[in-house]
Amino acid sequence: MPRVLVVNGPNLNLLGEREPGIYGDQGLEAINRSLSALGRELGLELEFFQSNHEGAMVEAVQQARGQFDAVLINPAAYTHTSVALRDAFLASKLPFVEVHLSNVHAREAFRRQSFLSDVARGVITGFGPDSYLLGLRAIASFLR
Ligand code: DQA
Repeated sequence: MPRVLVVNGPNLNLLGEREPGIYGDQGLEAINRSLSALGRELGLELEFFQSNHEGAMVEAVQQARGQFDAVLINPAAYTHTSVALRDAFLASKLPFVEVHLSNVHAREAFRRQSFLSDVARGVITGFGPDSYLLGLRAIASFLR
């Protein structure tokens, strides 16, 4: 069964209480439960990782080499700042889909820049928790 690593970046552990007008009222655990259910339907094995630390995310991507077939990631604020995370994906050669709950193009100008988008297989932004589910469906279809 193909294996997918789901990575969430900084402050996403606070989903549900954090700026609910922008990010909604669902917590990360609820999102992960929906992903697990969809994963079972799609025949994918999922593992979940969240960190508020850039280096820990870099290590998770490095360690995913050979262990996973793809990564679904919401890099959160590191989307807009992290050359290290970009380089980790380039080094790992793992295909990944970048997702965001909010539409990053409809917010502050600095959120329009991503260090990851051009090396991702694709990007899904603006659909709330559905962004993750759509991202997982995209992974299932390109792994098939
Ligand atoms: C986010 C968008 C980022 O700009 C922000 O820093 C986040 C969450 C989103 O899911 O909409 O933390 O990735």
